[in-house]
Amino acid sequence: MRTLIKNAVVVLPDETARTSVLVDGNRIAMIDPAVTAQADEVVEAEGLHLIPGVVDDQVHFREPGLTHKEDFAHATRACAKGGITTFLEMPNTKPEVITQERLEEKLALAAGKCLVNYGFYIGATTTNIDELRTATRTPGIKIFIGSSTGNLLVDDQEALERIFAETTLPICSHCEDESTIRSNREAIGKFTSVADHSRLRDHAAALVATKRATNLAMRHKHHFHVLHVSTAAELPVIEAARDYVTCEVCPHHLFFNVNDYERLGSLVQMNPSIKNPEDNAGLLQALAEGKIDVIATDHAPHTLEEKKKPYPQSPSGLPAVENSLALMLNEVSRGRFTLEQIVAWMCTNPARVWNVRNKGVIREGFDADLVLVDLNKTATVLNEQQETKCRWSPWHGTELTGWAVRTWVMGREVYRDGVIDGKVRGHEALFGD
Ligand code: DOR
Repeated sequence: MRTLIKNAVVVLPDETARTSVLVDGNRIAMIDPAVTAQADEVVEAEGLHLIPGVVDDQVHFREPGLTHKEDFAHATRACAKGGITTFLEMPNTKPEVITQERLEEKLALAAGKCLVNYGFYIGATTTNIDELRTATRTPGIKIFIGSSTGNLLVDDQEALERIFAETTLPICSHCEDESTIRSNREAIGKFTSVADHSRLRDHAAALVATKRATNLAMRHKHHFHVLHVSTAAELPVIEAARDYVTCEVCPHHLFFNVNDYERLGSLVQMNPSIKNPEDNAGLLQALAEGKIDVIATDHAPHTLEEKKKPYPQSPSGLPAVENSLALMLNEVSRGRFTLEQIVAWMCTNPARVWNVRNKGVIREGFDADLVLVDLNKTATVLNEQQETKCRWSPWHGTELTGWAVRTWVMGREVYRDGVIDGKVRGHEALFGD
């Protein structure tokens, strides 16, 4: 199958230019404004922008074991619609992915079900160091330094030292400090509302854990990625550890803060918790200053029924894969960021951080994971239109300008103008040497 995408404004590694892109099979074959090659399909893309497919390095797709919340079929339909062509998924499924055997099982499960490309982290426990040392076919190791959904937790210093010292895969962490959370719980006493969530998991919890983890990374000279930074206070700590540390932010920590609990209640209950307006501003500024590498979603769906339980029985997490790109393109339309910055944070940098080969940029010979975006298209996020199995979004009712209109995965179209082609297209993302 050959597809010729003509006359789009294409975000290339070193320039953004009006040109044409020829896709042959799985690959980008030619980038040339004068390309005249025969193609099975010619896409006239005048007025649209072509970007690399988004690589979302932090999602929870709940399969196996928690498929009443989400599954690969629904989640990857949502990805196709949202312009995400590769996802890297977290190990807190049931059973947890903490051995090579479980990893192979999840890879096999995904192979028959995903519209987009996939990869799976291996989770750390206090006792699975041998598995972590020898793991293959994975982007890296996930450590829950603070507990979240599920039972994965490693906050014992000796176990952490061994993981950083004895493994070679990149490590990422959920950084919220367990003992700070414990003492906050005692100080709060009785919870009265979901707003207590941001007191329980406060600024100190995030800061203490990020300091501890980046210190481990520096001492052991180990590549470490701080997941979902939620406070402005963590940024100087990360900045001081830049030789070994990369980091990311999620849209909900950029755009929601404690004032949103009144309107949205537990729909914005997340770990790490949402923080203050000053943190939104600090994180947005850090992005602009190049201090944050990646934007990922931490897509963590729960059913509305579960979310509506009174706090603290309500679970933490919200769905985001189908709206994350539009949320950031909306910032382009508002003039806050450029399209090139969004491509760096959502496509190029996550592929680089996790050694995802041949993805994240539009270059001849690279995989044809591509998204045509219409920077002028305005649409409102609506619960009833969500593809995620949980069928709600904390952005319900929000009007956004800038949307994916066509998505290709390995050269084959999975989404066009509101219509998802549900055939499996995804391949295992291959990881660096
Ligand atoms: O709020 C969260 N929910 N944060 C996480 O890190 C995990 C996630 C989940 O799996 O539900």
